[in-house]
Amino acid sequence: MGHVIASTASSLDSICLGRGGNGSGASRGDGQPLVGAIVQSTTFCRSGVGSNPEHQYSRVSNPTVTELETVLGNLERALPAACFATGLAAETALFLAVLKQGDHVVCGASVYGGTTRLLQQLLSGLGVETTFVDATNASEIEAAVQANTKLIFVETPANPTLGITDIEACAKIAKTAGVLLAVDNTFLTPVLQQPLDLGADISVYSTTKFIDGHSIALGGAIVSRDAELLERVRWIRKCTGAIQSPLSAWLTTNGVKTLPLRVRAQSKRAETVARWLSEQPEIRSVFHPSQATGDAKAIADRQHVGGHGAVVSFEIEGGYAAGCRFVEHLQLCTLVEHVGSVETLITHPASMTHADVPRDQREAVGVSDSLLRLSVGLEDVDEIIGDLRRGLDAVVDAAGTDEGCGCTSNEASLCTETRHCEVASV
Ligand SMILES: Cc1ncc(COP(=O)(O)O)c(C=O)c1O
Repeated sequence: MGHVIASTASSLDSICLGRGGNGSGASRGDGQPLVGAIVQSTTFCRSGVGSNPEHQYSRVSNPTVTELETVLGNLERALPAACFATGLAAETALFLAVLKQGDHVVCGASVYGGTTRLLQQLLSGLGVETTFVDATNASEIEAAVQANTKLIFVETPANPTLGITDIEACAKIAKTAGVLLAVDNTFLTPVLQQPLDLGADISVYSTTKFIDGHSIALGGAIVSRDAELLERVRWIRKCTGAIQSPLSAWLTTNGVKTLPLRVRAQSKRAETVARWLSEQPEIRSVFHPSQATGDAKAIADRQHVGGHGAVVSFEIEGGYAAGCRFVEHLQLCTLVEHVGSVETLITHPASMTHADVPRDQREAVGVSDSLLRLSVGLEDVDEIIGDLRRGLDAVVDAAGTDEGCGCTSNEASLCTETRHCEVASV
């Protein structure tokens, strides 16, 4: 176990601006640029044959990537993060770093579809077995741990059903079993949830989402206080060539500067939207931690700091055809396979993010054909609600008619070109 670096910056807000922390941020010396420069160089000069400079080749490390790694580590009072080309590259490196043939993973059943695909379709071929469990029930996680389990992987709030996993309870299970606990914290970011403080060994990020926040840079990160683990993750990154590009790291470092402001404001709007959706008769169900009850509410209130995140999922009455019509009539919310931008985005998980997850498996975790996922942005909240009302009005107008969306596709799920999809049963 490595040591924890004590950050000299007192608040997340200052750390995000590159102030304080450990060596982050541009120099404030006379004539120095306020914004750090991009070091785009692929390679670095040596003074002699035996020299060993900090940076030698940008597949291994690069000063611009290191700057982002320092900020992301400081945000969790951890060691500098390891940054990757994408979130899935980060997950792949983590899995290759801690798993080998014959090992076993316990994974939340409701996680990003790409995580499921990676474990179920790729790692399984390398002899790594995964048991998917309902991670909102800690006893299911405990029961799934085997003698050869090496890793518990959860995502909370989960994608896209927003189920809440008790990180502290999982950490106890992991410690008792002597296995690692990794938490995908992409949806809340370190601003709203601190997995390492709650006992997790590793925080996993797709920085492509809220951390960049502007839909301009792909990236992923592994954050930990365990020096040996990070060294192994970096070695895998060097072997597989999965490091983030300097340009993406630079864009992300600049995006991080407004991360606290963005996610707190987007969370607040999401709460208002979730409340409004829950009052509409055309909406069958709404999923957002602010709407949780009982144990889930208690865990969310304990675990989340100053907001429950910007992602809201909901199901429309009328199923598949209603969902088609709804998204087709939105003018402000944009249909994309993405969350975490400053704009309000809408996704149909069954046909987009979870298209590779077998239907029975996705339906078992609540990803029905009529589920829609909204990533609430920074537009005026009344305008967001007005747009959602426009979509619902279009659904109401079509009720009682046979009007579908005219699609000729045989896909039994909503297609992205909604005007081309057929009316199918949910
Ligand atoms: C929660 C979560 N984790 C991981 C990923 C994978 O990230 P990337 O698209 O950067 O590879 C995503 C992508 O949508 C995600 O939503």
